[in-house]
Amino acid sequence: MRRAIELAAQHRTHPNPRVGAVVVAASGEVVGEGAHHGVGQSHAEVLALEQAGDLARGSTLYVTLEPCNHLGRTPPCAPAIVEAGVARVVVGVIDPDPGVSGSGVSRLRDAGVEVEVDVLGDEAEAVDPAYFRHRRTGLPFVTLKMAMTLDGSVAASDLSSKWITSEPARSDAHVLRSASDALVVGAGTVRSDDPLLTVRLEAVEEQPVPVIVAGRQSLPLESRIWERSPIVISTRPLGVPSGEVVVVPGDEERPDPNGTARALAERGLLDVLLEGGPNLAGSWWRAGLVGRGVLYVAALVGGGRGLAPLEGDFATMAESQPVNIDDVRMVGPDMRIEFHVPHNGVSRESRFLHSDGEERRILRPDEPPSPTSHRSGGRRQAGRGA
Ligand SMILES: NC(=O)c1ccc[n+]([C@@H]2O[C@H](COP(=O)([O-])OP(=O)(O)OC[C@H]3O[C@@H](n4cnc5c(N)ncnc54)[C@H](OP(=O)(O)O)[C@@H]3O)[C@@H](O)[C@H]2O)c1
Repeated sequence: MRRAIELAAQHRTHPNPRVGAVVVAASGEVVGEGAHHGVGQSHAEVLALEQAGDLARGSTLYVTLEPCNHLGRTPPCAPAIVEAGVARVVVGVIDPDPGVSGSGVSRLRDAGVEVEVDVLGDEAEAVDPAYFRHRRTGLPFVTLKMAMTLDGSVAASDLSSKWITSEPARSDAHVLRSASDALVVGAGTVRSDDPLLTVRLEAVEEQPVPVIVAGRQSLPLESRIWERSPIVISTRPLGVPSGEVVVVPGDEERPDPNGTARALAERGLLDVLLEGGPNLAGSWWRAGLVGRGVLYVAALVGGGRGLAPLEGDFATMAESQPVNIDDVRMVGPDMRIEFHVPHNGVSRESRFLHSDGEERRILRPDEPPSPTSHRSGGRRQAGRGA
């Protein structure tokens, strides 16, 4: 099952789930492996069975998610497993999708296949928290990312914020971007920073979708973002140079955060990276949408009042939200802090070993909080990037 989880983790598949499968012959030999690559592609079980060929007869199939039993864009997996003569199926976790949810397991059992469920279930679910959150709530999994000075400003009061963090921290943020389906910014960030919202890493399977949340004022037509055909969320139809405008109800011409998040999930964007700025991030935070945060705290002191990470009123301590700090480490000269919000659809961190040998830490929805762990390490010295 660990190997199946590793296989599942290697692809961005949304809105479909990440799934991995391994076929072990009666001799104990691994004879087939497969991972789902995304919409319209073969399912992991089918690929693993194809690779196993005749050796699938009498085998055990390990699969991270319950096999489907319905005809979608590809044929259902449960009948294919029966047909291949698999003797036993070990399932990581039951599929929360109402179209599956137990029916795949029943179909296998009805055909006389032995089925074991919830084997490394936590880890199998942790490989794709966004899929589980979406199928249970209709919402995407939102990660808040911000870069700030050591004294807590995300921009100077003239709104400049370029190069707060060092090159290593910015590269790390690109890894975060590369794991996301969508990168979301508010109109203010488009106006001040003119971002391109791309992943600037060598091997990128697919660029995330850029999303702008527009408000009352018009969007600058000369921005670089139009090269990227963004999704623009607005409370009213807008003329834009490129991309798609999605109209979402809101207050005072500001799209409702939950409505915006749902609209993104409906478009298959389940892993959402919220990149600010402070006004948009503050409203999404107060709407309870943020499940995880990654903060880059620079080795740099602003030395006065700049922009706070979350704009809005923090009137009394009763309004504060406890979080679990999962990871603290140095990235070049800067610090990276990762946290999650307990009881917010996400509350437990889980880990699995990725095939590159690195331990990945992934959040899992709907579980009691784990004890907070603080970890720091890898204090490498690196120069500040240009
Ligand atoms: N260090 C970092 O990590 C980081 C990241 C991003 C941005 N920044 C900095 O943040 C500054 C810009 O801040 P900002 O707060 O103006 O940017 P923002 O949050 O990106 O944009 C705010 C604008 O978004 C629109 N909006 C639409 N729906 C909204 C909603 N539900 N809630 C709030 N706003 C909504 C409004 O536009 P209208 O005004 O048109 O109504 C609002 O003024 C810049 O200095 C930028 O450099 C820093």
